[in-house]
Amino acid sequence: MPGGFPTGRVGSQRVECSQVSTEGGVQHMETRTEPNQAIVPGLLSEGEQPDFPRVLMLAAGGTIARALAVAARLRIPELLAAGPLSSGELAKRAECHPEALDRLLGTLALAGVLTRVADGGYRLTDAGAVLRSDHPASLRNTVMLLAETYDDAFRGLLTTVTSGESAFREVFGVSLYEHLAANPEEERVFDAAMAEMCRPVAAELAGGYDFSGVRTVVDVGGGDGTLLGGILREHPELRGVCVDRPSVCERAAAPPHPAGDRIVFRPADIFTEIPAAGDRYVIKNVLHDWPTEWQVRVLTAIRRAMAATPGSRLLVIEPMLEDEIDAPHALTQMVLCEGGTRGFSEAGMRRLLAAAGFTPLSAGALAGDHRLFECVPSAEAGPVPEARPAGG
Ligand SMILES: C[S@@+](CC[C@H](N)C(=O)[O-])C[C@H]1O[C@@H](n2cnc3c(N)ncnc32)[C@H](O)[C@@H]1O
Repeated sequence: MPGGFPTGRVGSQRVECSQVSTEGGVQHMETRTEPNQAIVPGLLSEGEQPDFPRVLMLAAGGTIARALAVAARLRIPELLAAGPLSSGELAKRAECHPEALDRLLGTLALAGVLTRVADGGYRLTDAGAVLRSDHPASLRNTVMLLAETYDDAFRGLLTTVTSGESAFREVFGVSLYEHLAANPEEERVFDAAMAEMCRPVAAELAGGYDFSGVRTVVDVGGGDGTLLGGILREHPELRGVCVDRPSVCERAAAPPHPAGDRIVFRPADIFTEIPAAGDRYVIKNVLHDWPTEWQVRVLTAIRRAMAATPGSRLLVIEPMLEDEIDAPHALTQMVLCEGGTRGFSEAGMRRLLAAAGFTPLSAGALAGDHRLFECVPSAEAGPVPEARPAGG
């Protein structure tokens, strides 16, 4: 890291970030106190000194997360895009309390997303650059989603850990998607965050999957249409139907889409009413939101829609979670999602597909540990059950 590792104080402890390493895809930050600093003088001998800095740094993680989200909201990274600015200048441009903003900037420098430069200025580091909305791999909305709505839900973590129930309903009184529907700004951030995280898979699927002979792709729970948009850009002969909740479709359909009238946003409840027009159905990162019975319901609704178009196929895309490195991800899913869902292993996905009457023809790897299962309705699955009323 240019200019040395950031150093700061957490509580009364001086903390130096001495090393950032990556093991198994997980980033580890090594921390240490000043050499020979006796952390608990008189109580413990030097050899027994506990790793206070690490524990305090971890416990203060919420401070850094919220600081990132506030900087993103204030568009500090965009203000720094053209080069370093002093904290006073940033306070003027972002209309902030100068001293409070200076403390926020100092916190972000400790976290490694900004660097202090001469004369009290700050500049963005490479890590901080992805907070800019105009960065090609921007994570601006993802950071806001994680450090705002998701972090709020973590207030109920004790409930999830003691009961296995979703903390979201306890904290907000409603499910995640009911909450988003009632809070348009949070929903906008959620949809934009999904789009940010979807881009690598969209590019891979658009460039790597054989769409020859396909006419219409239906994306089930397709959010703002990022995945479909990527596919339609690469394949001008295709049409797309993006199915999602009414408020999501309304927002996504408002601005003119680069795919023009080749893309349609269709508000529907995916558990009951999937449009029958497609010869390829895609469902990406939707199933893990729901308990098994609901996963089977949405897949059954897709199978019912597919019955109208012989030869149609379903592409199921989900991240495969590994016990060792994905525990925080799996825990977040339990906190957020009703029914205590915890994501999929490959074997678990194959069991689900069989239970819902699908046979995988192939399975392949996509970005971000996602796996693509290309499926057809199982010959032995028999007729598709009638739709059940919504919520039933
Ligand atoms: C985790 S997001 C995934 C979005 C997108 N497929 C992606 O991978 O980026 C789940 C999506 O399912 C949609 N969804 C949830 N419940 C739904 C329902 N009952 N009917 C239609 N869409 C729903 C959400 O609005 C959201 O866009």
